[in-house]
Amino acid sequence: MHLDRCIYIAGHSGLVGSAIHRELLHLGYRNILTRTHGELDLLDKIAVDAFFATERPEVVFLAAAKVGGILANNTYPADFIRDNLIIQTNVIEASRIAGVKRLLFLGSSCIYPKLCPQPIREEYLLTGSLESTNRPYALAKIAGIEMCWSYNRQYGTQYLAAMPTNLYGPGDNYDRTNSHVLPALIRKTAEAKAAGARELVVWGTGTPRREFLYSNDLAQACCFLMNLDDARFYALLTDDVPPLINIGTGDDVTIRELAQTIARVLGFDGTLVFDATKPDGTPRKLLDVSLLRSLGWQHTTALEEGIRHTWEDFRSRFSSQI
Ligand SMILES: NC(=O)c1ccc[n+]([C@@H]2O[C@H](COP(=O)([O-])OP(=O)(O)OC[C@H]3O[C@@H](n4cnc5c(N)ncnc54)[C@H](OP(=O)(O)O)[C@@H]3O)[C@@H](O)[C@H]2O)c1
Repeated sequence: MHLDRCIYIAGHSGLVGSAIHRELLHLGYRNILTRTHGELDLLDKIAVDAFFATERPEVVFLAAAKVGGILANNTYPADFIRDNLIIQTNVIEASRIAGVKRLLFLGSSCIYPKLCPQPIREEYLLTGSLESTNRPYALAKIAGIEMCWSYNRQYGTQYLAAMPTNLYGPGDNYDRTNSHVLPALIRKTAEAKAAGARELVVWGTGTPRREFLYSNDLAQACCFLMNLDDARFYALLTDDVPPLINIGTGDDVTIRELAQTIARVLGFDGTLVFDATKPDGTPRKLLDVSLLRSLGWQHTTALEEGIRHTWEDFRSRFSSQI
């Protein structure tokens, strides 16, 4: 991507979109388009079409989505499938009409079957049943991959779908009831430390293994992919397989190790107690990242370093609430 290319980041205020925005600025891109949700509701097809017709972006990062934890997905399943289908349909179709050269559609590892062999290869897509709690969301994301694939075949577009593992980083959601495990543990540990607690209760046995990628690393991977030369980019967009690539670290840790690392970074020296009466979820969830590695990309931020940056972000935003 030439530094003058007109690049639109849909969802630039979110965890993923904001990291992509920072990375593009860092790389020297100077023609970046952003619109807040208030300025452009991506559910509004007429507004989306008008925006693309006026601004004519050449490259699109589609990081806008209705995103939430298990509680939100369970409570509002219709909203999750409807809004995500509409957002991605509006943006992908408007991109095609506007002649967008390359588009990166952000999905999530929940698109893969619940009982997948580990590590999870891209080819496991649609080989088994999905986890029921976020099936509507996952199906919308699978439809997005299928749309990219279909548009490439029918219209000759270059639309790629990236499936990141669990992410964390500055701007994350630290909500008490609706956040992912890593930011939730940062909040709980910060509160335990501030209260002078001698122990911190962590849900589950602590034995499930999970993979975590720092959001800035994800943004680097996204920009790396969109900057691939035509030969290597086209190789990801063949007619035979979905245009899909996993983004992760290739390493996982137990929840116990994660909790210990967070306790160390935050300086909480109480005891971690694992409440085995609470559900563990799937024993392991690790993406196979050999395709991405074969292209030459690897993450650089170690988990402890990423947690340190995220803790600084949390402190700067929420220390008054604790
Ligand atoms: N976070 C993770 O761990 C993770 C892991 C893997 C994949 N992903 C994927 O990455 C993508 C982005 O996730 P995220 O974590 O960055 O989510 P996020 O922080 O909730 O950000 C979502 C973005 O989309 C915007 N948005 C939502 N609905 C919109 C609408 N109708 N019109 C315009 N903008 C709208 C939001 O704006 P407002 O906030 O103003 O509504 C926000 O900027 C998703 O596809 C997700 O599946 C995330």
